[in-house]
Amino acid sequence: MSDAVLIETKDAIALITLNRPDKLNALNYDLIDRLMAALDTIETDAGIGAVILTGAGERAFSAGADIREFSGTVRHGPNTAIRDFVRRGQAMTARLEAFRKPVIAAVNGLAFGGGCEITEAVHLAIASDRAQFAKPEINLGMPPTFGGTQRLPRLAGRKRALELLLTGDAFSPARALEIGLINAIVPHDELLPAARQLAGRILRHSPLAVASIITAVTRGLNMAIGEGLQVESEQFAAMVPTSDLREGLAAWIGRRPPSYSGH
Ligand code: COA
Repeated sequence: MSDAVLIETKDAIALITLNRPDKLNALNYDLIDRLMAALDTIETDAGIGAVILTGAGERAFSAGADIREFSGTVRHGPNTAIRDFVRRGQAMTARLEAFRKPVIAAVNGLAFGGGCEITEAVHLAIASDRAQFAKPEINLGMPPTFGGTQRLPRLAGRKRALELLLTGDAFSPARALEIGLINAIVPHDELLPAARQLAGRILRHSPLAVASIITAVTRGLNMAIGEGLQVESEQFAAMVPTSDLREGLAAWIGRRPPSYSGH
């Protein structure tokens, strides 16, 4: 049995560890499939309210798609390359982006290629002061394929993204913070506690409200504002009949802390 992805749940937080440290947690097909399966399990587990994603070992969050494996796929031509490699990677980042529980990347080291694309796709990211980022696909004679040409320009702006995409040069956590790729930089040893603390600040709220905000923001960003406002209305309308909304309002009016059931 492969253990390319580890899951450990504590205090309603699932810690997912990308676990190929001797390959700098390169994303081979097995790891991607296991990550998708882990998300399926977490999605339906009402006891889990947030996800932290990190990398095993001292060096890497992830050094990106497994170059040896996808080189083999590329040799079979465009149809196979799109089906087995591109769609698989794009499905992974899209699933992370649309996940209805907050996903926080705890970037513990190198986040190159697909590792950077995961960081772009998740909802929140905290980096160790030892992290390093890069969009190095250009060095391989190719463009990024797991959403890396689409999400970074939306996050950082077109010219900042194009500089990173076209040069392939590595960049620091300070630069990642400046361009909006991560939320914070912390000393290496404080990375997981900081990610847990951030998750805790979200977990005190209604999981239904959390999910509706993630969906409205994620879908809305890729729409014209009129359509985005429609998504916002729909998300609010879906909350109106819930106990959580009644509880949140009653708790405020009654000057007491809320206690949410997630219903
Ligand atoms: N795919 C497959 N294997 C990878 C990998 C990747 N993306 N990144 C690292 N590895 C493997 C290496 O092959 C090596 O395995 P080996 O010891 O069996 O040969 C191991 O991980 C350690 O990497 P190594 O290259 O020896 O470390 P380094 O410190 O010399 O260099 C990097 C680190 C990140 C600069 C270098 O590994 C690299 O360029 N990786 C590819 C990054 C990339 O282009 N990602 C985008 C892919 S689309």
